[in-house]
Amino acid sequence: MTLRQIVHLPEPILRKKAKPVTTFDKNLQTLIDDMFETMREAPGVGLAAPQINLPMQLAVVEYAEEEDEELPEDAPPPKKKQFVLINPEIVKTSDEMVMGVEGCLSIPGLVGEVERHESIQVKALNRHGKPVKHKVEGWMARIFQHEIDHLNGVLFTDKAVRVWKPGEDEETPLD
Ligand code: NI
Repeated sequence: MTLRQIVHLPEPILRKKAKPVTTFDKNLQTLIDDMFETMREAPGVGLAAPQINLPMQLAVVEYAEEEDEELPEDAPPPKKKQFVLINPEIVKTSDEMVMGVEGCLSIPGLVGEVERHESIQVKALNRHGKPVKHKVEGWMARIFQHEIDHLNGVLFTDKAVRVWKPGEDEETPLD
């Protein structure tokens, strides 16, 4: 697998609408695997193709739901869930909105408070081109919305109610 280079602002591709994926060949499978690898290495919880300079409607997400505080300390870490989103479309959104702090691998050194839908439903294609539907909530729904924004040239700083440089002890999942 090959690590791909993550581009940062003001790279113009980050502001462009990505094009639908129409070919589900071996090259696409390699690209998806590379994107997971690049995201883990960063490290991040999501990565969209425009972030590696490709104008494609493709994003990967890998995240473990919040740990249950009731679990003993020696419990195994929560299992990470992986998603491949191709040509995704948000088909349903909750009325409930939630605030959260986000960062982005393409905007190093900045975080922001962003309001997102608490839960969403997304129609997309999987890595083999089969239609799939995802219902996600909480932080996973936030990551999905952040990634789908990337495919439309939208960045979290466009939506943030405030942005700031995080302190050293401030941890924020990046995508
Ligand atoms: Ni991002």
